[in-house]
Amino acid sequence: MSSIYGDYIKSVIRTVPDWPQPGVNFRDITPLLQNSAAFRKLIDSFVHRYQELEVDAIAAIDARGFIVGAPLAYELGCSFVPVRKKGKLPFKTISETYTLEYGESTVELHSDAFREHDRIVIIDDLIATGGTMLAAASLIARSGGHIVELASILDLPELGGSAKIREAGYSVFSVCS
Ligand code: PRP
Ligand code: ADE
Repeated sequence: MSSIYGDYIKSVIRTVPDWPQPGVNFRDITPLLQNSAAFRKLIDSFVHRYQELEVDAIAAIDARGFIVGAPLAYELGCSFVPVRKKGKLPFKTISETYTLEYGESTVELHSDAFREHDRIVIIDDLIATGGTMLAAASLIARSGGHIVELASILDLPELGGSAKIREAGYSVFSVCS
């Protein structure tokens, strides 16, 4: 699933070859963020997608997910829940460790981040192997949240992440791929 602005948004994402290591084509969203018209269309795409779905909280993934998650929560009038990298959240946390396209990481969630059965959209900038999204989904599910959908700006389908997320039973929305 992609948005009507998908081709335009894709055109303002830059590819940096061999970064942060040889063989990785890094998809850099900073040109999109510098372009106020593109950034507005991006946030509008997510708002349009979720405004009728009675979302209680946007769970955004550290760090690039925060950039889109906060304005989306503001526009929807719902809570913002940070899913953070290990060691950043001060209160009681639950955690999940997962493998990245380039390395390993752990994400954490505050144990009181939302109420049981709350309707949650998980958001990040990009789906590559899907490990980050699935780790976040596991945290939300373990906390008793209802996952409405996993959303990203960009999906990299050749890395198999979105397919893996769908196989796990979740709905996925990306503005472009
Ligand atoms: C990047 C990206 C996603 C994740 C996608 O985050 O922002 O969170 O990788 O990869 P995956 O689908 O293979 O899990 P990164 O850990 O580089 O962190 P950052 O947002 O702090 O730059
Ligand atoms: N996170 C994981 N893989 C990535 C990629 N190819 N570009 C940007 N962020 C990423």
